[in-house]
Amino acid sequence: MGGPFADVEETLFADKDVLSEEYQPDTILERDDEIEEFRNALSDILFGRNPKNVFLYGKAGVGKTAVTQYMLEALLDEVESRPEADDLHVHSHNCNGDSAFAAVRALVNQLLPPGAEEFPKRGLGLADAFDELYEQMDRTGGTHLVVLDEIDHLDDANDVLYELPRARANGHLQHARVGVIGISNNYGFRQRLSAKVKDSLMEEEISFSTYDAVELRTILQDRAAMALVDDGYDEGAIAKCAAHAAKDSGSARQALDLLRAGAEVAEERGAERVTEHHVEQGRERAQRGRLRDKIEEQTLHGQLVLEAVAHLEDADETPVRSKHVMSTYQSVAADRGEDPLTTLKSIQNHLSDLSMLGFLTRREKNNGRAGGAYFEYELDLDPDVVFQVRSER
Ligand SMILES: Nc1ncnc2c1ncn2[C@@H]1O[C@H](COP(=O)(O)OP(=O)(O)O)[C@@H](O)[C@H]1O
Ligand SMILES: [Mg+2]
Repeated sequence: MGGPFADVEETLFADKDVLSEEYQPDTILERDDEIEEFRNALSDILFGRNPKNVFLYGKAGVGKTAVTQYMLEALLDEVESRPEADDLHVHSHNCNGDSAFAAVRALVNQLLPPGAEEFPKRGLGLADAFDELYEQMDRTGGTHLVVLDEIDHLDDANDVLYELPRARANGHLQHARVGVIGISNNYGFRQRLSAKVKDSLMEEEISFSTYDAVELRTILQDRAAMALVDDGYDEGAIAKCAAHAAKDSGSARQALDLLRAGAEVAEERGAERVTEHHVEQGRERAQRGRLRDKIEEQTLHGQLVLEAVAHLEDADETPVRSKHVMSTYQSVAADRGEDPLTTLKSIQNHLSDLSMLGFLTRREKNNGRAGGAYFEYELDLDPDVVFQVRSER
């Protein structure tokens, strides 16, 4: 007789992967203007000219990564049939939590010939990593597009962004051309860049706005038709996901998470169709995706401070004062190989921002006449969610 899984049948999903985070859509909907701008920015490559540098920004879940992948695949295809175009090499790297050195090293390793030994982790510096990168680019020749996703998380973005786009002009490259595509979840990042870098990187800026309910519906309908069986869902379920995500974040990721969660609830209940009701009940589980977006929108050090408070919460050491958070933060930063911020004030600023965004609760305490007033912090969400998001990369 069957074990515990014998009765499990898939009834509602035709292809569940279509709703997963990793799925790369073949068609991009509702982003025609951005695609057009992107196309203009990249078109020099088709004629063997120096590529422009492109900077994309917008909140999490609005299609920056998906559109970039889509454009680059299309470009790689097109280059094949264009005699004037040089060979095109695309190197994508997610910068989450990286130092400039780690990012350049990762690019070098992508470019090394098969069988070559990886660039060493220790002992050499950023300048050595750049030398090797240029050597590998020149060895390969052609045009190199370097995609730095979530670039706002790069500890010292200025160094990389100053150096790379000028490599040819500065005589580091003789044969190869290089262009940089920077992607950021956070527009504030732009302000943190030096003026010299802004000039070079921001040749073309493409801003991605959040989606409204109508746009989200279009995106969801397309996905639902592939992911779920025919007649497996109510139009009302789609509308519900779209309306909720539009009101909350405008993120397609959140909308897709909601749909997946609703469909899972429906499937577990043995329902024939996903309804609005299932989506409502799936909302709780979909919170995780929403939180991930929100956490990813924070700066690197904001995330490290959040992680520190999560550790303290986990160890039952909250409510906690900023001084105590600071020492935990420093060990979290050290674990991840980051240079920690050194002033208590900067930690307090991050704590204050995180409280305002609803990640933490903050209470003012009074020590009586002797001590004066101070703040105590607690995590306002499940610490496991923070650990999960932070360890996913
Ligand atoms: N315009 C769109 N058409 C189809 N799918 C989209 C669109 N925008 C976003 N998505 C989907 O939504 C999710 C989040 O998009 P993503 O590109 O990762 O966002 P970002 O990089 O801006 O955080 C992905 O699963 C992506 O496939
Ligand atoms: Mg992205």
